[in-house]
Amino acid sequence: MKPAPIPSRDRLIVALDLSSVEAAEALIERIGDSVTFYKIGYQLGYAGGLSLAAKLADRGKKLFIDFKLHDIGNTVSKGIESIAKLGATFATVHAYPQTMKAAVDARGPSLKILAVTVLTSYDEDDLHAAGYRLGISEMVEARALQAQALGVDGLVCSGEEVATVRGIVGPQMALVTPGIRPADSAVGDQKRVMTPGRAIASGADYLVVGRPVVDAVDPKAAAEMIVAEIVEAGG
Ligand code: C5P
Repeated sequence: MKPAPIPSRDRLIVALDLSSVEAAEALIERIGDSVTFYKIGYQLGYAGGLSLAAKLADRGKKLFIDFKLHDIGNTVSKGIESIAKLGATFATVHAYPQTMKAAVDARGPSLKILAVTVLTSYDEDDLHAAGYRLGISEMVEARALQAQALGVDGLVCSGEEVATVRGIVGPQMALVTPGIRPADSAVGDQKRVMTPGRAIASGADYLVVGRPVVDAVDPKAAAEMIVAEIVEAGG
């Protein structure tokens, strides 16, 4: 069965990769109604950013807590319970079986767990340097299947992998794709990047976009252009 359609605007998740709550609030204010979904990661989260959770909820915005948890099961479960209490819609864990199981068991009725298969800043050399024998595509496939078997709600995967991963896990799991770069923007440290339109056409449900919006001269216009591209791609 196909999941319910996602409104185009909700498919864009803007990463609040900023160093202070004030800077994040100013950005959210500037962007206004053009973005409905925000992600808080290490940089803002460890700078007091979780205090924004209530404000985002008051404004009707959805929240993605991207701390990519990985620890012993009990610690992961307790962390996920706390994230669920913040009212978050998504939380990430690394795709290790114990970690994924602990997160799924503790998530409650409204939080969805996303597993990170392989970070999009990694290429094959980085994987081998970290001691893994599998290549990126084998690793992504193995982890995607484990995540699905454990009841994980969605996967974080690069634009290049979306079509393959969709083929592996079917329509139910949410596929969330970072490493998105509109055609004219800088790649930065990402190694596997894709334009918003191509990622949606390849089967991504949500796009995570940081610097192309956060560092834009006009972040609202940058976000609106991405949403327009999502609509154009049929998303
Ligand atoms: O600035 P940029 O668009 O590259 O930001 C991408 C965001 O997505 C960052 O917040 C990064 O932590 C996150 N992310 C990623 N790759 C993953 C998972 C999350 O780049 N596999």
